[in-house]
Amino acid sequence: MFWTFDGLLLALLCLGVNGSQSLYDLQWLSCRFVDEKVHINKEDHIETEYITRAAVLQFGKVGDRSSHPTITTFLVTASKVDMRRYLEGAEDKLQCEIHRYSTGRIKTRWPTAGAQDHDVWFTSTIRHSEGLFVTKTFLRHTTVAPVAPDEEQMDFLQWETINDGDLLTMSAAMVFLSKTPSVDVGLFKEPDLDCRFAVDHALPHATVEWKLQQHGRRTDLFSYSSRTGKTEGNGVALKAIAAGNVSYKLRSTSTHSEGTYICSVMVPPLNGSHDIPLRISEQPHVSINVGSTLSMKLGEVQMLKCDAERYYPLDVDIKWYRETPDGSPTPPLKVRHSSHERHRDGTHSVSAFFYLKPSMEESGYKYTCSVSHKSLLSPIYKSFTLRVTDPDSTLWYIAKIGFIISMVVIICYMRPQYLGTKSGKKVRMKVGIEE
Ligand SMILES: *[C@@H]1O[C@H](CO)[C@@H](O)[C@H](O)[C@H]1NC(C)=O
Ligand SMILES: *[C@@H]1O[C@H](CO)[C@@H](O)[C@H](O)[C@H]1NC(C)=O
Repeated sequence: MFWTFDGLLLALLCLGVNGSQSLYDLQWLSCRFVDEKVHINKEDHIETEYITRAAVLQFGKVGDRSSHPTITTFLVTASKVDMRRYLEGAEDKLQCEIHRYSTGRIKTRWPTAGAQDHDVWFTSTIRHSEGLFVTKTFLRHTTVAPVAPDEEQMDFLQWETINDGDLLTMSAAMVFLSKTPSVDVGLFKEPDLDCRFAVDHALPHATVEWKLQQHGRRTDLFSYSSRTGKTEGNGVALKAIAAGNVSYKLRSTSTHSEGTYICSVMVPPLNGSHDIPLRISEQPHVSINVGSTLSMKLGEVQMLKCDAERYYPLDVDIKWYRETPDGSPTPPLKVRHSSHERHRDGTHSVSAFFYLKPSMEESGYKYTCSVSHKSLLSPIYKSFTLRVTDPDSTLWYIAKIGFIISMVVIICYMRPQYLGTKSGKKVRMKVGIEE
């Protein structure tokens, strides 16, 4: 029985080592704190000054000392949401930024023990540098100086000053996560736009919204309110909402699906949102109108065409170039492009062509068409090798061989007449020279 337990422990340990790296036990994470100094200027306009400085997000319990005493420390103490659960990948790939958060005109008290009427909020956004995920955590400052705030004034005008070396104790109230911080997808696909949240208390009053922003215009896609139970639009599985999953499923994508999808979850006084940009990309199909070797006769002309078909978006770089047999480059080719053709599905096609009238020296040259496009990590290449034959030279050889044969025939025919003469030798010598 004991060994079974040990084996299990070992297996768990191994899983922890081999599986995707867990950041569950992360002690601290270095961050950027983007502080804001807000005031109302002489023209009665709100002016914000941003000051960025080093900070650290430290995980621990109330009363812990800062692990980095010289910089601002945001000490996150245990609550029902552990933001570390949502982190993935290597620690050095995480980019963390802390901001102040204004609840605006919403004066709702956060429904957790210890919350106050005038809580001070911060957000911490942690992004994976290679786009694995993005999380945004709402942090409630739990040790605010007991200064009665001015009810009439906006919260951001009363923010207390934070200095380097200060330690602020926080509690995570709401975490917001997306594993699709940005989406690149082909046509006729049904991608899931991931958006999830977790709150530190049960049965929160949440309003969920999805909007699509395109060229400065916003369209409502979906909305749901847990208070009224009312739903508008579709794309979100209602059953999943209670578990904090508000992912949006797109119907078959078209080029009109491009834009920024905004997922927002409001649990008053907080309003969390993720902007998920979605781009359509389709790779070009590339072909040339000849096989891998092209044989041509000197003097012949051939049109060579390279097609890049059904790609999206529009910008493509299509070009022809050639190399000598030893691989050295040659002067550029005069290439022409057809005009872009737009298909009904929104994709495009284009071709690059040129007329080839090769010289003998160009035999053995390699001609390549290269196509670069946003959807491709590296260009697509299509090549052929040119072989040139000289029909005139063949004729010339035929003519020469014919001449020799006829001379031989003539000599043989004339021989008997010359055999007896004294000048025979001379004639033969003459023939010999002619040859
Ligand atoms: C969230 O819900 C969607 C739609 O029901 C589902 O496809 C997806 O797998 C869910 N995600 C998680 C992490 O449960
Ligand atoms: C919450 O944020 C979203 C996205 O920015 C916005 O559309 C919505 O109006 C906000 N809601 C409130 C109540 O401020």
